[in-house]
Amino acid sequence: MTTSSPLLSARGVRVSFPGRHGAPAARAVDGVDLDIRSGEIVALVGESGCGKTTLARALLGLVEPAAGRVAFDGRPLEYSGRALKAYRRRAQLVLQDPSGSLNPRHTVYDAVAEGLRIHGYGGDERAAVAGALSRAGLRPPERFFLRYPHELSGGQRQRVVIAGALVLEPELLVADEPVASLDASVRGEILALLLRLRTELGLAALVVTHDLGLAWNIADRVAVMYLGRIVETGAVEQVLTAPRHPYTRALLSVLPEAPGEPVILTGEPPDPARVPSGCRFHARCPVLAGGEADRAGVAGACRGRDPGILDGSGTAQVACHWAHAGTV
Ligand SMILES: Nc1ncnc2c1ncn2[C@@H]1O[C@H](COP(=O)(O)OP(=O)(O)OP(=O)(O)O)[C@@H](O)[C@H]1O
Ligand code: SF4
Ligand SMILES: [Mg+2]
Repeated sequence: MTTSSPLLSARGVRVSFPGRHGAPAARAVDGVDLDIRSGEIVALVGESGCGKTTLARALLGLVEPAAGRVAFDGRPLEYSGRALKAYRRRAQLVLQDPSGSLNPRHTVYDAVAEGLRIHGYGGDERAAVAGALSRAGLRPPERFFLRYPHELSGGQRQRVVIAGALVLEPELLVADEPVASLDASVRGEILALLLRLRTELGLAALVVTHDLGLAWNIADRVAVMYLGRIVETGAVEQVLTAPRHPYTRALLSVLPEAPGEPVILTGEPPDPARVPSGCRFHARCPVLAGGEADRAGVAGACRGRDPGILDGSGTAQVACHWAHAGTV
């Protein structure tokens, strides 16, 4: 891990969505600190609805946090149209569904050139498009210029989307489930591409996924999110081989290659409009239900005291009273 100052830094970020018909607001992101350094790949993992996409959008300035702040390269984001447009050159979003993010009536060339045109690029557009396609592994690039999305495979479409993000030479990619819709074989190729881009271009990336295997293959660091908070973070080997938070353990236990019995979480599915008091995982926590937290003397804290916000610096941390009691 480097000690340089982070490229992107989020502190205390909160995003909520108003409830309908007087229902309480959904606290989709409920206090998150997260740093991403240049050239670092961070995987953000957690089950559906835990707030991954909302956090990713907040990091890109696509949604303004209700509290907290996001800074890029040491400067807090500004939310005027002009400031966001300038930010977009440096931090790009890659979406999960390549067919959804490509216009079927635009050629590959136009799809990739779009960003250059929006930003009034003054250089050689054709060379920039060819360079981006080539870096995304579509070679020779000229062969793809006049193709339409329907003429491409799923993997090639995802590469076009990545080329469209690369053409502006960003420093950070935020990839939301970048391979979820792809076949296993193509998935490996796209992951290899993301890793190569990090090595060749020094690109930092936040990869949002609910696939822990993907996190293992690609990331330096992992942040595990549960109900709007990061509950465990650290180097990928550490978190995935020696998880400390009961939620991380449960997520890992259901992987096909996991040793031992899978831990099936019981209790209500998490609802960001009704975040439990104390530890937000307490109603579903197998360590609390099984009496281990009680034996460690922390059961009261589990039910009554919020374990707090992890500091985002990238050092190994866990938001769990039981883990802090020295049990793991
Ligand atoms: N525009 C919105 N309006 C109201 N609620 C929303 C909106 N977007 C997200 N939410 C709610 O916020 C919570 C977090 O959603 P989010 O899409 O960030 O989760 P996620 O972790 O990306 O899930 P998935 O893995 O399914 O993509 C969910 O409860 C969701 O219903
Ligand atoms: S703080 Fe308690 S309830 Fe929360 S995860 Fe840890 S052991 Fe479980
Ligand atoms: Mg999502």
